[in-house]
Amino acid sequence: MNDQKPIIEIKNLTKTYRTDRKRSIVERFRRRASGSTEDFHALKNVSLTVQSGRIFVIMGLSGSGKSTLLRCVNRLLEPSEGEVTIDGKNVIGLTNKELRHLRATKLSMVFQHFALLPHMSVVDNVAFGLRIAGVPVKERRARATEILNLVGLSGWEHRRPSELSGGMRQRLGIARALVMDTPILLMDEPFSALDPLIRAELQQELLRLQRSLHKTIVFVTHDPNEAAILGDDLVILKDGEIVQQGAAKDVLLKPQNDYVKRFIEGVDKTRLLTAEHGLDREFPVTVADTAHPSFDKPSKYGGLIAVVDSDRRPIGIIRSSSADQTYSETAKRHLISDFIQLQLDSPLAPVLPQLSGHATAALVVNEEGRFIGAVTAHSVVRALQAQ
Ligand SMILES: Nc1ncnc2c1ncn2[C@@H]1O[C@H](COP(=O)(O)OP(=O)(O)OP(=O)(O)O)[C@@H](O)[C@H]1O
Ligand SMILES: [Mg+2]
Repeated sequence: MNDQKPIIEIKNLTKTYRTDRKRSIVERFRRRASGSTEDFHALKNVSLTVQSGRIFVIMGLSGSGKSTLLRCVNRLLEPSEGEVTIDGKNVIGLTNKELRHLRATKLSMVFQHFALLPHMSVVDNVAFGLRIAGVPVKERRARATEILNLVGLSGWEHRRPSELSGGMRQRLGIARALVMDTPILLMDEPFSALDPLIRAELQQELLRLQRSLHKTIVFVTHDPNEAAILGDDLVILKDGEIVQQGAAKDVLLKPQNDYVKRFIEGVDKTRLLTAEHGLDREFPVTVADTAHPSFDKPSKYGGLIAVVDSDRRPIGIIRSSSADQTYSETAKRHLISDFIQLQLDSPLAPVLPQLSGHATAALVVNEEGRFIGAVTAHSVVRALQAQ
């Protein structure tokens, strides 16, 4: 998207917990004087930029500082050092009143452990944030009902949270954040407690919602597959420090160190591949109407040859094993004109079943629509092996 701009900027963020609080004052002074304080850095010098409209994933093992980082963004936690800027405004110096305003208008949060209000009905749980913001009762109920519909919970308005399943509670948590209509959504491991099927369903639902709502989502998870499914951008934390960050695809396909490599081992990489990864630039190609098309590498490609027009725009694929036929004879009998055409950034996952089903190829074009190569089952396997 072209209208992206930095919406959250974090610079040199450090969060330190004093772990010697329970010691006597004398002991604390003694230890600090000798330089042996037991300060614990939950975050160390973290810098990152979240672009608007993207899903930014924070990943790391338990205790690596993910929740701490998220909570420093909306100032539920006070950073020890560093800067947090939202929409160009430094949030570190805000008064309590300004903070409340920021949370009501800019950021809402889905908590790691639902944090629902057990004695309130489902609809009132959703409307609660609006109530705090002073929205009149009729309007807040109406907005809450609309959002419950959006997350698939209509009909449950007057139940209590305790009557809902885990997955439904999580939808409710999401509804509570969505109802505030803030541009930024902070989500702390929202799906971790759910079984795999419900989890996959909610991941898809979040993507569906995101396609129409275009929020900026900061999403915490410890699951690399979840990061692969949802993430546009990704940072990996280890002991409070960023060990790698970048476009999610790049981090997951090109881990820069052993820690990241081990961490993302189980990721289903086929989902991350684009035509660029599987591109074979050597794929044989011939221009239509050439009297004798060049069938130079037929065996390697099972006799498949891309056919392009004089502008190198693909018009089909020929399957031929004979090198001595003229183009028009071959084309008459063998031209496959309903072929798959991809751009360099097209995801490969949706076309894999077709590519593996029978010997065929997907033709890849550049931005001007001109043939640059092809993706075959063989080239996909090679791309996967290279990761
Ligand atoms: N109030 C506190 N006092 C001292 N240490 C704390 C405090 N809160 C968190 N920590 C420590 O900071 C570190 C980071 O905690 P955090 O909750 O951010 O981890 P996390 O990555 O979210 O883990 P999880 O995946 O288990 O939720 C942990 O080692 C934790 O023990
Ligand atoms: Mg956490």
